[in-house]
Amino acid sequence: MAIQGKDVSSLLLSLALISCVANGADHLAPRRLLTNLCTFDVTRHGVKAGAGQCKQNAVALTKVWVQACQSVAPAKVLIPSGTFEMSPVVLEGPCKNPIIFEIQGTLKADTNKNAYTDLTWFAFEKIDGLQVTGKGTFDGQGPCFCVGSLGKYKDEKNVNKVLVTDCKFIGTDNGARIKTWLNSPNLKATDITFQNLVMDMVKNPIVIDQEYGTKSPVPSNILLSDIHFRNITGTSISDAAVNVVCSKKFPCCVDMANIDLVYKGTNKLPKKFECANAKLTFTGKQNPAPCPCRR
Ligand SMILES: *[C@@H]1O[C@H](CO)[C@@H](O)[C@H](O)[C@H]1NC(C)=O
Repeated sequence: MAIQGKDVSSLLLSLALISCVANGADHLAPRRLLTNLCTFDVTRHGVKAGAGQCKQNAVALTKVWVQACQSVAPAKVLIPSGTFEMSPVVLEGPCKNPIIFEIQGTLKADTNKNAYTDLTWFAFEKIDGLQVTGKGTFDGQGPCFCVGSLGKYKDEKNVNKVLVTDCKFIGTDNGARIKTWLNSPNLKATDITFQNLVMDMVKNPIVIDQEYGTKSPVPSNILLSDIHFRNITGTSISDAAVNVVCSKKFPCCVDMANIDLVYKGTNKLPKKFECANAKLTFTGKQNPAPCPCRR
């Protein structure tokens, strides 16, 4: 992620808002995001398919992002079908309106190691009301960390109703992720659903991390409740395919249904399932098999 341990006091809540919204699931998305949208097709703004376009594409995407973000009408940035190579980009807010980033095609990480100055490939930052939607793919088979989303506000608000669905992650570091900072103010994040996600050799397919940020003895004061992970399948390469570490002060409530993540890493004895301070309920298949939570 782009923000690592800097200015922690102002980083209140950091929540993955990667929502690939299926057509049939629009009722779960905030209405105002879906009407009167101004669409910015990136291919009309200099983003090109094909090889050798990494840098140009990143520059063009950043430019069109700024236009969309500053648009007076709610905007959608559209990655149409096709495969688009991309050098590292940080798409920043705050934006004038809620914004949709719709991926129909594939965003492919730059494979040139020298292109990376830190561990970030693709990051959304400081954006309130972001949805990353579509049926596209984040292809991170490169030397990088990949998709993320950060909220970074002193006056951070509660987060409600986030839908992450029908998305494929290839070789990325993270799939379905919620993270909140230690020593945060009192906030709630509720009704967050990750569903129908396919993970292909993803490091951390399912992550809740409420101990994010630099070390602080003060736990996160963000209550996560009504959190759902449903129908998440594929392969993982980290020791813990499911890693749910919630706040000591506010144990989270999480429902997991039909999780099937096959370990393809190289360790002989991976932990696979890790949790702390969580109230978990399970339905359907659970792979990795759950084990009791710490603390
Ligand atoms: C589970 O997710 C996959 C991948 O998105 C999808 O093809 C499948 O239909 C889903 N299954 C159910 C029961 O929703």
